[in-house]
Amino acid sequence: MSALTPAADRFHSELTELSTLVDGDRPGWTRRALSETDIAGRHYARSLMDSAGLSTRIDGAGNVIGVLPGRLGGREIMLGSHTDTVDGGGRYDGITGVLGAIEVVRLLRENDIRLDHDLVVVVFFNEEPNDFGFFCVGSRAMTGRVDRSMLAATDIHGRTLASALPDSGIDPEAFLRARYDFSKVAAFLELHIEQGPELERMDRQIGVVETITGINHFRALFTGRQDHAGTTPMDVRADAGCAAAGTVLAVEAIAESGTNTRGTSGQIAFTPEAVNVVTARAVVEGEFRGPDGSWLQEAERRLTEAAAQQAAARGVHVEMEWTTDDAPVPLHQPITSAIAEVADDLGFSRATMFSGAGHDAGIIAAKTQVGMVFVPSHDGRSHCPEEFTELTDILPGISVLLETVLRLDSSLT
Ligand code: GLV
Ligand code: MN
Ligand code: MN
Repeated sequence: MSALTPAADRFHSELTELSTLVDGDRPGWTRRALSETDIAGRHYARSLMDSAGLSTRIDGAGNVIGVLPGRLGGREIMLGSHTDTVDGGGRYDGITGVLGAIEVVRLLRENDIRLDHDLVVVVFFNEEPNDFGFFCVGSRAMTGRVDRSMLAATDIHGRTLASALPDSGIDPEAFLRARYDFSKVAAFLELHIEQGPELERMDRQIGVVETITGINHFRALFTGRQDHAGTTPMDVRADAGCAAAGTVLAVEAIAESGTNTRGTSGQIAFTPEAVNVVTARAVVEGEFRGPDGSWLQEAERRLTEAAAQQAAARGVHVEMEWTTDDAPVPLHQPITSAIAEVADDLGFSRATMFSGAGHDAGIIAAKTQVGMVFVPSHDGRSHCPEEFTELTDILPGISVLLETVLRLDSSLT
């Protein structure tokens, strides 16, 4: 075995430790951004980064950034992923890439390999959707894609993002200024579990991501009239709940009309929550995804129209807001080719993939050359407590990450 073989036991014990930092009041392996457990998770990752020999800091947007200085200075290769999870999520989404990047740093140091480039490891803040309608928050801040309107966005209780950030140690003004200087970053790599069934179906060890899905995320607020459920005739109601339900079904119908397209209504809330009251107010949040940007624009237009029809038919008012609107992102061919070559040279089977999941890599791709390495997900399950990847399936991903760093270090300026 080569000295550059990832240390399986070390990786496994850190994965176990980080994945069990969970919110005990929530199902599954929950460590949602903007929670106490998320702070604990990021601090744990930082402590590993410190002990791996990185000089760490936390930027204005809560991103943990660690630097291993290179020989030449001034040019960087960046690795990263996230430590937050969805509610009721799994143990591998995000942290596989964070711990894999830290393992790469250790292997370099333990083997006295000094890169020319500085190696930068980032734990991105708040990758998963938060209650304010945003995801990939830390990477958006690093790339300058945040503004005051984002700070003013509210959750379902009317709290603003600006008022929630300080609980996670983030000053809203510093958040707006937390841009990273990507002019010095030669490339960015993210290791991640696939979160779908393709690698397992094809019996391949490594996925080389070619394109990351586009995601258009909406929030529809329906305002009707609160009335008595027993005495108000059906034809005089303004039932916001029914307009919301019709919109949920429209999301499904629109998504079924495309190729490789997805539509999901993941959140719905009725006010008041009472069986014997006609719903006064309903909020639906959801999203469309797909590989084709023009289809996403068309889906956005069709859903806005469908929600308006659902509302108008019932005398309900609707406000439709598209909170994020991220086009599909093709990753950079020199980097994807390097990953594919490395996988071949190391003797791992591989496949080229489309990512139906969103990633910080997709945001960073606007600023530098980006590549992603996927490892298989058991039964394709993810964003659920059953999410699982065998340790022996993760280690090849770390080896590919490390070897790709070494090759890019010598081929990129
Ligand atoms: C991130 O996990 C996403 O695809 O929503
Ligand atoms: Mn996720
Ligand atoms: Mn993820």
